[in-house]
Amino acid sequence: MHHDLYDAATFAAGQPHDLYRRLREETPVHWNHEPNGPGFWALTRYDDVFAVDHDFQAYSSAPTIMIDDPLNANEGAIGEAKMMLMIDPPQHTAFRKLIRAEFTKPAAAVKGLRLNELARQIVNTVIERGECDFVADVAGEMPSYVIAELMGLPLDDGRELYKLTEIIHSSPETMAPRAIPDAVNNMFGYAAAVIAEKRARPADDLATRLLTVEVGGRRLTDPEFLLFFMLLVDAGGDTTRNLLSGGLLALTRHPEQLAQLMADIPGRLNAAREELLRFVSPVIYMRRTATRDVEIRGTAIKQGEKVVMYFGAANRDPAQFDDPDGLNLARNPNPHVAFGGGPHVCLGQHLARLEIDAVLTEVLTRMKGVVIPHEPEWLASTFISGPKSMPVTFTPARRL
Ligand code: HEM
Repeated sequence: MHHDLYDAATFAAGQPHDLYRRLREETPVHWNHEPNGPGFWALTRYDDVFAVDHDFQAYSSAPTIMIDDPLNANEGAIGEAKMMLMIDPPQHTAFRKLIRAEFTKPAAAVKGLRLNELARQIVNTVIERGECDFVADVAGEMPSYVIAELMGLPLDDGRELYKLTEIIHSSPETMAPRAIPDAVNNMFGYAAAVIAEKRARPADDLATRLLTVEVGGRRLTDPEFLLFFMLLVDAGGDTTRNLLSGGLLALTRHPEQLAQLMADIPGRLNAAREELLRFVSPVIYMRRTATRDVEIRGTAIKQGEKVVMYFGAANRDPAQFDDPDGLNLARNPNPHVAFGGGPHVCLGQHLARLEIDAVLTEVLTRMKGVVIPHEPEWLASTFISGPKSMPVTFTPARRL
């Protein structure tokens, strides 16, 4: 068994649930070394993850939420501006207010109508073939469409942007030396062009509104827009895709559960989707940094040390969930932390739920007899979990 949470190989067959179990039981506040860094504390119990996520005063999101520290102080920042994911209240609160309106439930619900149409088109592109790579051809298409729709961009650009995020999320040692910084630069270059385009030709889209909206006398600066653009593409792309691929894999591996869902999709999808979020947990971790000396379960943590919340481990904690390794699509209540919690709780969670529902409904009702013949290969990432590709077969049917 791999023991090192810093090593992408530990995640090469999906999240290491056996390791998580052992850590939860034996060393819930576990010290993990880093080859080129000071090391970090790994939290695997639900209560600890929940508490740290909510206590932004003791656990800061600065300088970064990734385990690796930035190579220089300006990484992830442009001048004074920093990505919202990496700033604390009260600055974070003000920023979040500024953009929240676009992501609240009513706004997303209106978009829901169009999401169903997008899901239908996506399934149309594969339905006659009776086989596809579910990750690239179905699951990954939805977030690409959505970012393009939201921002008012051509669909092909949505696809390109989301390829860049995959590079950015890969473990550096698995990539060519300049691949990650180059991808970040390409993303910024693209976002800068979006600013110019939307200023020249304002349109009815999120990009235009973000560039003009004013809350409490405050507007987004250009650097803030660039960083937020990157965050949106980044946060909403492979997360949603991996939930869909990992979710379909889990469903086909639990046929009796799938049959129950199929018997009443509209009535059972809500609970089923939440259970898939818990079971799959596409975001592996978020990191915090202790702002002062603290203690968790009697373990002393020094100011400046890294504390890492393992959401997939928290979501399988038997102290919180009965039969945590079982897939129970009717689980209720289901207080999973797949979207995190506290001030940074996923801003796109309502939109993500609508995307997931639209694709799952379309896939389950139209792609009959789905078979995933072998275990998929997983992404080489310690941060985002999901199959890299997932060939599936199904009964061919007609386009709608
Ligand atoms: C299944 C899909 C998704 C999962 C599992 C997910 C998960 C997460 C998690 C774990 C966090 C960090 C929360 C914390 O620190 O406690 C987060 C933050 C965030 N997510 Fe998501 N996310 C998903 C989809 C999306 C989508 C579709 C969007 C937008 C289009 C989005 C936008 C964001 C943003 C902007 C943040 C940062 C919020 C802040 O810093 O205040 N996410 N997400």
